Amino acid sequence: MCGIVGYAGRVGLVETGTAGRAASVVLEGLRRLEYRGYDSAGLAVMAGKEVHVRKRAGKLTNLTALVEADPLPDAVVGIGHTRWATHGAPTDANAHPHLADNDRLAVIHNGIIENYRSLRDRLVERGHVFRSETDTEVAAVLLADNYRRLGGDQAGTGVLETAVRRTCADLEGSFTLLAVHAEHPGLIVAARRDSPLVVGLGDGENFLGSDVSGFIDFTRRAVELGQDQVVSLTAEGVTITDFGGLSAEGREFTVDWEAAAATKDGHPSFMTKEIHEQPEAVRRTLQGRLDVDGSVTLGGLGISDEVLKGIQKIVIVACGTASYAGQIAKYAIERWCRIPVEVDLAHEFRYRNPLVDVRTLVVAVSQSGETMDTLMAVRYAREQGATVLAICNTVGATIPRESDGVLYTHAGPEVAVASTKAFLTQVTAGLLLALHLARLRGTGDPIEISTAAAELLEMPEKIQCMLATSKERIAALAAAMADSTAVLFIGRHVGHPVAMEGALKLKELAYIHAEGFAAGELKHGAIALIHEGLAVFVVVPSPAGSPILHAKMMSTIQEIKARGGRVIAIAEEGDDVTAGWSETMLTIPSSIPLLSPLLSTVQLQLFAASFAAAKGLDVDRPRNLAKSVTVE
Ligand code: G6P
Repeated sequence: MCGIVGYAGRVGLVETGTAGRAASVVLEGLRRLEYRGYDSAGLAVMAGKEVHVRKRAGKLTNLTALVEADPLPDAVVGIGHTRWATHGAPTDANAHPHLADNDRLAVIHNGIIENYRSLRDRLVERGHVFRSETDTEVAAVLLADNYRRLGGDQAGTGVLETAVRRTCADLEGSFTLLAVHAEHPGLIVAARRDSPLVVGLGDGENFLGSDVSGFIDFTRRAVELGQDQVVSLTAEGVTITDFGGLSAEGREFTVDWEAAAATKDGHPSFMTKEIHEQPEAVRRTLQGRLDVDGSVTLGGLGISDEVLKGIQKIVIVACGTASYAGQIAKYAIERWCRIPVEVDLAHEFRYRNPLVDVRTLVVAVSQSGETMDTLMAVRYAREQGATVLAICNTVGATIPRESDGVLYTHAGPEVAVASTKAFLTQVTAGLLLALHLARLRGTGDPIEISTAAAELLEMPEKIQCMLATSKERIAALAAAMADSTAVLFIGRHVGHPVAMEGALKLKELAYIHAEGFAAGELKHGAIALIHEGLAVFVVVPSPAGSPILHAKMMSTIQEIKARGGRVIAIAEEGDDVTAGWSETMLTIPSSIPLLSPLLSTVQLQLFAASFAAAKGLDVDRPRNLAKSVTVE
């Protein structure tokens, strides 16, 4: 949700000459961060004691075209922003950076300033003029006001930092702010509260990013920051302080993501590439953690066995796709560990006064580790005394940092907005957690558990085989269905969250009416939606693993067909009954029921990506969405 980049270097760093490379570094960072929002993009560089700004509504390509047509001067310091609009429409005027102090101060912002209206009124009364509808401009103008009241550059080198601190004290809500001022040409001052910011350490140059992908092309050395901190960044160094001005420290870490991970690698979209990376991603989630006999080693989990043994209840909190992964984990944990599990949408959790105490384990599932709704649920849970475990893909993100323990999924960077490999690895991590708890607490049928462990280890290969055989078939199906305006998805047991995930993918990518239901619920209302020719994806339970549910699903299929619906089944190889009843059957390898989402979901991901592509839509950057939603 808004991507932020900052760069401070010096001349003479580039092989090609002595020119400052601020604009190109910032644009490259924005390209990597564009998944966070693409309503507009902009950058500011400092050259000749002036701030030079270019900004444009729409995707980053609009900004790069503008910079080509109207080049920026060589510069050693720059900041850049890619926007997911909250306050104000996606226009050029509302694009960041926002200028103040006679255009000598430029500010970019991620988050929401909740008291911006009252601050704006106060500033208007003082004679300040606004040029946009954004809350960010209020922060910029307030910062300029504070800067001048402190005496401007006459007040010495630390004045911009002091002005930023004073401004932060007045702001309510969440924010990452980056500010540059023409009177301090080598300096960026940044501040963060409840919104992400990471520092990158280079050799004679330093970086800021909403996450490490903002500078991954230039350095792997990164520093994670704490809450309520201010960073002063120059080419020479980085100073971290708290909002009170006291010296603070960040934790340095090495980024292990491959820079190559942010190229499409011959695939038509990042999403397709990431779908095909799933065998490897699941393998990495499992690596070194699971034995064929079902024993699990979760090194670095950070929560003692004693605590885990004493847990009486689990609440899984997450949003979007991650919440569907949580629902699948619920089935496994309840079956193997006999602990009651609730799954809550993170934004609902703390507002319903949930029953959470020291015997509760709250599991926060988040790809980015920055989703504000989930972060707030984590904080609330910890306040109630619960133990919090994060299942997260992004090392060093805020959610794992603020949790008691973390299980990293190691899926690698996910660039496409629609989540794919993050989901499969979250499901895998949830299954690992279930197996771990079962072992620790001595629950579950040992034979079933070791069968599940052995099958889980085979999953990467099964996914790989399925991908190799399904791709073209699904592309043809999607092309034939490209005119559909509504599609339903149904499933039972773990097939239910899979159906909801299939529908979510289609909504996100193709902007059509797509709904996921529990198959048993269809007859209680949604069956009224079925009409001649309506496509219904049916996630069919395994005939061997769940014979009773399979038989019930066959009845549901009859009910759909009797009303003219077209059944597209996702079913196990060799399921001849389903093959006989469905118009199209997409097959998955056989597996125990609890593991089947790792297979069936992939078919639905492929369908959504192909369907959106067949409609000529941007698969990686669907309209109105952002990958990481850092506002509540
Ligand atoms: C947004 C994204 C979804 C994602 C959800 C949770 O809504 O568009 O794809 O599932 O956030 O994100 P997280 O990073 O917490 O997994």
